[in-house]
Amino acid sequence: MDGLCYGGDYNPEQWPEEVWHEDVALMREAGVTLVTVGVFSWSSLEPSPGRFTFGWLDRVLDLLAAGGIKVNLATPTASPPPWFGLAHHDALPVTAGGTRLTHGSRDTYCVCAPPYREASVRVARALAERYRDHPALAMWHVHNEYGTWCHCDHVAAAFRDWLRARHGSLDALNDAWTTAFWSQSYADWDEIAPPRATQYLPNPAQSLDFRRFLSDATLDHYRAQKAVLRELTPDVPVTTNFVFGSWVPVNNWEWAGEVDLVAIDHYPDDRERAAEQTAFAADLARAWAGGRPWLLMEQAAGIVYTGTRMRAKRPGEIALHTVQHVARGSRGAMFFQWRASRGGSELWHGGMVPHAGPDSRIFREIRDLGRLLPRLAEVEGGVLADVAILWDPESWWALEAPGLPSQEARYLDALHQAHRVLWHGGVTAGFAHPSGELSPYRVVLVPSLYLVSDATARALTAYVEQGGTLVVSFFSGVADEHARVRLGGHPGALRDLLGIRVEEFLPLDEPVTIRPHGDDGPPTINGSIWSERVELRGATALASYEGGDLDGLPAITRHRHGAGRAFYVSTRLDDDAYTAVLAAAGVPAEPVPAGVELVRRSGDGVNWLFALNHTAAEQEIAVTGTDLVTGASADDALRLAPGGFAVVRTRDVVVQPAITGYACGARGSATASQEDVKRREQ
Ligand code: GLA
Repeated sequence: MDGLCYGGDYNPEQWPEEVWHEDVALMREAGVTLVTVGVFSWSSLEPSPGRFTFGWLDRVLDLLAAGGIKVNLATPTASPPPWFGLAHHDALPVTAGGTRLTHGSRDTYCVCAPPYREASVRVARALAERYRDHPALAMWHVHNEYGTWCHCDHVAAAFRDWLRARHGSLDALNDAWTTAFWSQSYADWDEIAPPRATQYLPNPAQSLDFRRFLSDATLDHYRAQKAVLRELTPDVPVTTNFVFGSWVPVNNWEWAGEVDLVAIDHYPDDRERAAEQTAFAADLARAWAGGRPWLLMEQAAGIVYTGTRMRAKRPGEIALHTVQHVARGSRGAMFFQWRASRGGSELWHGGMVPHAGPDSRIFREIRDLGRLLPRLAEVEGGVLADVAILWDPESWWALEAPGLPSQEARYLDALHQAHRVLWHGGVTAGFAHPSGELSPYRVVLVPSLYLVSDATARALTAYVEQGGTLVVSFFSGVADEHARVRLGGHPGALRDLLGIRVEEFLPLDEPVTIRPHGDDGPPTINGSIWSERVELRGATALASYEGGDLDGLPAITRHRHGAGRAFYVSTRLDDDAYTAVLAAAGVPAEPVPAGVELVRRSGDGVNWLFALNHTAAEQEIAVTGTDLVTGASADDALRLAPGGFAVVRTRDVVVQPAITGYACGARGSATASQEDVKRREQ
């Protein structure tokens, strides 16, 4: 599609046919270009096994085509109809506790159950055969937010096959899982089960392998549908919408290589941190997309359910958050959903057309956004970011295991803090996978990377030797890929690189005092949650613990290694202290007013500056160029209204490398390209 995609999930099956005509008229008024149709329409499409009722969908697609609106046609497999569960009891998911779930919500399926696999492929094929030549068809949207867990016998059988392929032999598996502990040694593959509810602590390596397996098994279900769609419509891109949450057993780095366009759903759940969360999600999507365009497939137009209560979006926030996504490479903005439902489980979730109808603040904002987006369509090219955060879902999964030294040392907290500190410092962050290409980045932050394979240790070492700067934080590099501790002192995989040896971990009940060395900066700072007994083995101490069991021992260190430097932070710092460490590592905060976000894009001979004001006061930034939002020229300075934004085509000097590729693909499909740092003046 030319230009930016704009639209949302369209669920006409919820409405009488006369409403469809009003829908298309309103979509045209709002500048909608793309709608996702049919995500949850399986029971309308196949009301009984093998009997398809396409008439209504024919009429919907014809109406949309006549209105000039393209369709992102979904396969409906995220919500099998009632008949399916009744006919195929064994395809309903089973919880870890052994409860078989029933139909009544959505996502009641098991991706390993043969009847579900067959029914999914059959409905995908029927859709593709029917609509392969339909003029409205622009893209396939397989399923919805893959992420259902199951522990049934089909899963157990598939898990065993997966384990055979991964470990090769039972001896290797027993060794990897350390099954000698608590008499868990397996003598036969059939003895192995998914990590179902058990009496006390489960085996951490078994749980970790299960999450890896679930990601692969789910991906297999996606691939089966994709194969059918490819066969029948080779030129139509295929995607699925990624969602990020602790319940999602999907390794997005691996999945990203399987979609033609990375698509994410994003619902910030903290009103005060919504802008920060939006930047985080969009930076992740950009990384998964390997620098290629990606698409914000869902966001909320109005009220959004956050798990405990509903949150309304403030006036202007729909556009502000959308522009944050576009700044980071989204080729448009889509919503869940076009029209707010009048009933059903999510009746209170906002829509582009709210319950109040088009005469509403929300619809007016939607219409205004539809007019704005075409003006931003010229923006292409890489996002300028030369600082990356290492993001490894397997370390995350491993750190969620019970039985670790501290349940407060949470991976996502560490990851979010790294991003937050950069974001508040005006630094646009990239994300990289440990096996990805790091050389485009000047500095790489490594928050609590618990699992480090030998290959990752070698890659991080080579990165520093060649001149990179690494900032590693506590509880990194201590375990191998089977979640087994590396012996001889922590952080086993990174000891030499960091020039330290950690003898023991001391989780903290109370904050501890740390005294930075040197004259600049605060006299003391605090560390919390975690501390370590660090011995210098070539590194220099930048700060030391004061008082307590670790009095006088190093807390923050720096080690020169090859042409680069490796910093180590052995406790959790607050954001200000972390910012100071980053400054020492060569990442100074940008001189922008607090609450103002800048993102730079660089295309073929053109630069753009996205400037977003997340404060309640007017702000001024230094820039010269043309604001695509208003059409006005900025000469040296531009004023941003409270909550306002500008997208300036600028002739300003670009001083960072234009990184257009990112580390991508946990299995070595990195597509990063390194460009020389250059000053470019147009
Ligand atoms: C997800 C789903 C949608 C809808 C929204 C709103 O992103 O994909 O179907 O449920 O959440 O909560």
